[in-house]
Amino acid sequence: MGNGVKKAILPAAGLGTRFLPATKASPKEMLPIVDKPMIQYAVEEAERCGIKEFVVITGRHKRSIEDHFDTIFELEENLKQKGKENLLREINSLSHLNFAYIRQGRALGLGHAILQAMPFVKDEPFAVLLSDDIIDPDESLLQEMIGLYNRFEAPVIALEEVPEEEIHRYGVVAGEWEDGDIFRITDLIEKPSREEAPSNLAIIGRYVLTPDIFKILDGMEPGRGGEYQLTDALKGLLKKRTLYGFRFRGRRYDAGDKFGFLKATVSLALKNSGISDAFGQYLTEIVEELRKDVARQP
Ligand code: G1P
Repeated sequence: MGNGVKKAILPAAGLGTRFLPATKASPKEMLPIVDKPMIQYAVEEAERCGIKEFVVITGRHKRSIEDHFDTIFELEENLKQKGKENLLREINSLSHLNFAYIRQGRALGLGHAILQAMPFVKDEPFAVLLSDDIIDPDESLLQEMIGLYNRFEAPVIALEEVPEEEIHRYGVVAGEWEDGDIFRITDLIEKPSREEAPSNLAIIGRYVLTPDIFKILDGMEPGRGGEYQLTDALKGLLKKRTLYGFRFRGRRYDAGDKFGFLKATVSLALKNSGISDAFGQYLTEIVEELRKDVARQP
């Protein structure tokens, strides 16, 4: 049995160009979905798996991430004085977690970002969560992946079947099914064309990795897009050990682009007890209007 996964890496040094101008001076990871910044959903997901140590890989303009997970004394005092206990609880809900921040001087790719966390992770297994892949909070993907890691003592990567026309946006794996949703990986390729793609199984932003990946990342050449790709390092790791994929069949929102971000906002608003009824009513009205518009068209 493995000894569990206690640390998580949250890469957050990207430039967020798909959300410009919103991300000109503020990080993409801090864009709010309903009432929480995107990155908080990933932190809460890891926290539900018992992870308490986080390292966030940041870059320029990312100070607000550090402030967000910090204690803000004046705000707490203010809420206390006003008797706003619920809000106080809300802002302190993650105060038992530990955060470390490492700057990735230049955005040289996901593999390079993960390598920066080596001094923090040392020789333990760790989770990686890409915060713009939002996993519905009712799902237990990471928990199941950690369960598989504990069982096999091997890295586990989250996979999802995606339509052929979307495959070029992802790392893609080849391999064979072992048991249910467990997939034994035999090859990986970063952002292949439709023709190159060995399957429709895309890597989604959850990984449980072992520290031997650092050595490979350290000696690697840049890959797709001139960036140091985590997918290429995992392919290197395959020469040394077994890698597993775990097929996720639940709800994931790709909040890395505007459409996915809006879908996440709508779906999570409908689950938010403070707003779901009124918002659901509003959506029903909008849909009704749209229907009428369509019906009026000649
Ligand atoms: C990264 C990885 C890719 C993976 C994707 C999941 O790409 O490099 O292999 O499929 O995350 O979201 P990015 O979206 O950062 O370009």
